Amino acid sequence: ASILILNGPNLNLLGTRQPEVYGHETLADIEAMCRAHSAAHGLALGFAQSNHEGALVDAIHAARGHHDGIILNAGAYTHTSIALMDAISSVQVPTIELHLSNIHAREPFRHHSYIARVALGVICGFGAHGYVLAIDALRGHLERRG
Ligand code: DQA
Repeated sequence: ASILILNGPNLNLLGTRQPEVYGHETLADIEAMCRAHSAAHGLALGFAQSNHEGALVDAIHAARGHHDGIILNAGAYTHTSIALMDAISSVQVPTIELHLSNIHAREPFRHHSYIARVALGVICGFGAHGYVLAIDALRGHLERRG
């Protein structure tokens, strides 16, 4: 199976961006961790980041037929983007919503997610390790689904 990990705006700055909220790992560190974990379980992995909403929509469309599942950290677009929500509904690729921080413990405007409505499930609050948790959750889902 093949999965796509897609990261939205400002996540390219991980490591230096509010480390007290998002941790000290860079996106490259997270990618390396995800590659090791995926490889250990025989999964192919696509890993991408964009600051642009339309580019993220394009990446979700391109996942259809290429990836069996998506892990999406949409950053702030989580809270604003009907376009990303619609893209996920349109391609019908099982998608897990992911956040490094516990969005529910933060400002009220982060409590609502458009992505959650169409996600298989949501993982948040476990920092960089959340990516590994999300890979395992998606792996389990794909195995059970067969
Ligand atoms: C985030 C949470 C969002 O509210 C925020 O806008 C981000 C990162 C997270 O991973 O914790 O950019 O998605």
